[in-house]
Amino acid sequence: MIQDKRLKVAKALGLLLAGPFVASAVLATAHIFEFEIAAAEAAEAAERASHRFVRIAQAETGEADGEASTELPIEPPADPVAEGEAEAKDAAETEVVVEEEEEKCCKKGDRTPPFKLLAETAPGELNNPYDWRELAAENEKDPDYLVKQFRAPGCGQCHGANGGGKFCPTLNKGVWSWGNTDDVLFRLIALGSVELEKQGWTRYQQGEIKAPMPEMGQVVKTSDQLWRIVSYIRSINPGANPPEKVLPGKYTPPIQVAPPGEAAPAE
Ligand code: HEC
Repeated sequence: MIQDKRLKVAKALGLLLAGPFVASAVLATAHIFEFEIAAAEAAEAAERASHRFVRIAQAETGEADGEASTELPIEPPADPVAEGEAEAKDAAETEVVVEEEEEKCCKKGDRTPPFKLLAETAPGELNNPYDWRELAAENEKDPDYLVKQFRAPGCGQCHGANGGGKFCPTLNKGVWSWGNTDDVLFRLIALGSVELEKQGWTRYQQGEIKAPMPEMGQVVKTSDQLWRIVSYIRSINPGANPPEKVLPGKYTPPIQVAPPGEAAPAE
């Protein structure tokens, strides 16, 4: 009889103790589900958006299915000698311009996929060719132009429709955890936080949430789109991340470990 009572008490105690753990486990699982659903929704939204983006990009770079070429007036050469000289001069000038453009990344209207641009560009060298104020002014007819760039690939599913936070970090307050340069923002968004860390970057501070930022470099098809998205993020948080308070990504090149049996790569 006493034994029976003891057992009951023990059981009740056990339940009391275990209760919060079970509850928090259920909550945690629910969060993971919410996260996964959002990720899936983001991918879907991106699929829909990418077609639209390609059209916008084509229109802006004048690549829209061969429309532009018909409008160029073709004039017969007046003086073949003068023409030849002029051409040579033109060629020389173009060469200089091309060289200058190749030196500094990055260009407006660049259709290069984000991963390719990353592979070609050394750490710290990525610079947004857009200023968010200019982009907003150029598209003043649509006051939502910038936020639309952010929502199209599904960023809003996790960060809130305007980037003000949902179950993922708010982007419009405080200094960003991985640094605030264009270079580190581009890399974080394209690679996601796990890969960014693998590639040698370290955060300045732990974010609000210890979930990884997913890799969005497949969903966002061109570097141009990614720069427009970075422009939006800057537009909502200029106070905490002003140009004079530069926090470059903290980067240490990862040590190359040669697989057993193979010689270390010669450099
Ligand atoms: C599936 C949810 C999810 C999606 C979709 C998502 N993010 Fe994130 N993002 C996160 C999480 C979680 C973190 C925090 C990661 C960390 O701190 O390591 C984060 C971090 C960030 C940060 C750094 C925030 C800070 O304060 O340091 C930026 C900037 C960011 N995301 C931008 C974007 C952009 C732009 C997109 C769309 C192209 C996007 N995210 C899509 C979940 C998401």
